Amino acid sequence: MAADVTEDLLALVVEGCRMPVRMTGSDEWPLAEIISIKDGKDSFYVHYIDYNKRLDEWVARDRLNLCKIQPPVKKDAKKGARPPSPDAASRKNQSGRKRKTLHGAAAESQQAKASRQALLSSSVHALSDSLASMPDGADEAMKDVPMETEEPAAEAAAPPAPVQQQNLRKGGSMVQSHDDTVTRIKNVQLVELGEHRIQPWYFSPYPQEWINLPCIFLCEFCLRFCKCRTSLVRHREKCTLYYPPGNEIYRKDDISFFECDGRKCRPYAQNLCLLAKLFLDHKTLYYDTDPFLFYVMTKFDEQGYHLVGYFSKEKESSEDYNVACILTLPPYQRKGYGKLLIEFSYELSKFEGKTGTPEKPLSDLGLLSYRSYWSDAILEILTEQLKRGSPSNPPLLCINEVCEMTSIRKDDVISTLQHLNLIHYYKGQYVLSLNKDVIDTHTRSMSKRRVRIDSKCLHWTPKDWSKRGKW
Ligand code: ACO
Ligand code: ZN
Repeated sequence: MAADVTEDLLALVVEGCRMPVRMTGSDEWPLAEIISIKDGKDSFYVHYIDYNKRLDEWVARDRLNLCKIQPPVKKDAKKGARPPSPDAASRKNQSGRKRKTLHGAAAESQQAKASRQALLSSSVHALSDSLASMPDGADEAMKDVPMETEEPAAEAAAPPAPVQQQNLRKGGSMVQSHDDTVTRIKNVQLVELGEHRIQPWYFSPYPQEWINLPCIFLCEFCLRFCKCRTSLVRHREKCTLYYPPGNEIYRKDDISFFECDGRKCRPYAQNLCLLAKLFLDHKTLYYDTDPFLFYVMTKFDEQGYHLVGYFSKEKESSEDYNVACILTLPPYQRKGYGKLLIEFSYELSKFEGKTGTPEKPLSDLGLLSYRSYWSDAILEILTEQLKRGSPSNPPLLCINEVCEMTSIRKDDVISTLQHLNLIHYYKGQYVLSLNKDVIDTHTRSMSKRRVRIDSKCLHWTPKDWSKRGKW
């Protein structure tokens, strides 16, 4: 009898329906959507609503709470006046784990927007007496920096044939993805890279013969992929690389950066994009790497220069992008390397005498890392300025100066100041208030950043790509 009921309920399970599903490694049963079904309804690929796609997984039927099954949301209903389903919204925004927190971080309130608009378009004059009423000394609870703004401103495989090459590039090494069942499902089980075995987070268009293997073995230096360790060993006997192809433009201690031209190092660049796509959700791979430079960060030991992370950058960007895609490989994440990559990208922009911004949309982790980097960089300048000023002679700084000193684009500076809640309207103009909590948090954050970019170790001359016949 019970078996019959289960079979009846299973018959209702189709792609797009929802039900509580027990998540791996927890006793929680969050609502999940069925993305795909295989093995005669024994295995289900699920996406947990309100959770990041990183957690999507194949589950057996005993993990489904069939009693609470909900039919798929009809397409017409989706298009209608109904507000978008939480799932659709979270996919669209490609934001992270719990939608509440990450939407909160990503979305800009109307008020914040209006105030940013005002800042972009209005002149703000310093208020010399704004500090006069402030208490003296280092323990001051509140300090203001009046701001002035100006007007706005085979065995080892070569890269496979492109899967979605039809996409026309609109300024990015990877273009924004369109959800379909195939690209919503993680297709690679495991990759081995040097001494690391890494579980992918998302789909990447590795060739068909590779995706059903228990593990893909990558040469950690040229990034070619092999079907088994024996082929990798054979490949390593022939492969002479022990660092990324390209010029080493930075070295300090064991950290180096190599500049790889997407045209001159095409196979490497394509393999790097394939690998990166395993951890980047909101982009679809685009195979034309020619218009990009790849800045590859490595850590040196006696075996060679090991890949830690990279960012790509358009040779010519009409939108001031100084980063297209950025990645720290999972074994190296949450150790400060992401902020080191970001710092390096702004160091290049400083050498170019430009401001820059990362290509949008940012992922959830991208936004966290950029917010944190921008806060550090801006507060570093503001606290320096504070030390130079005094209550009777308040420091005067205009937003454009902050942009010049950091190479951070103006809208990112303003949104960061707003995010930190530092901008206040006082006696008819905008002032920045730095309280003790903000300064303490900043000091703590800076003390965590043990590895920093040292501009003296960068040996690089920017090229003007617009003056070249071809990239
Ligand atoms: N959960 C919570 N906070 C996190 C997490 C996490 N999983 N990962 C990083 N952070 C926070 C850190 O706490 C740190 O903030 P803090 O200094 O204020 O404490 C900040 O983010 C940066 O941490 P790092 O250790 O410097 O960064 P990391 O080496 O982990 O790299 C990166 C960050 C590059 C975004 C990495 O998570 C990654 O590669 N993700 C996958 C690819 C991706 O999403 N790239 C960005 C896409 S957007 C674009 O390409 C333009
Ligand atoms: Zn190799």
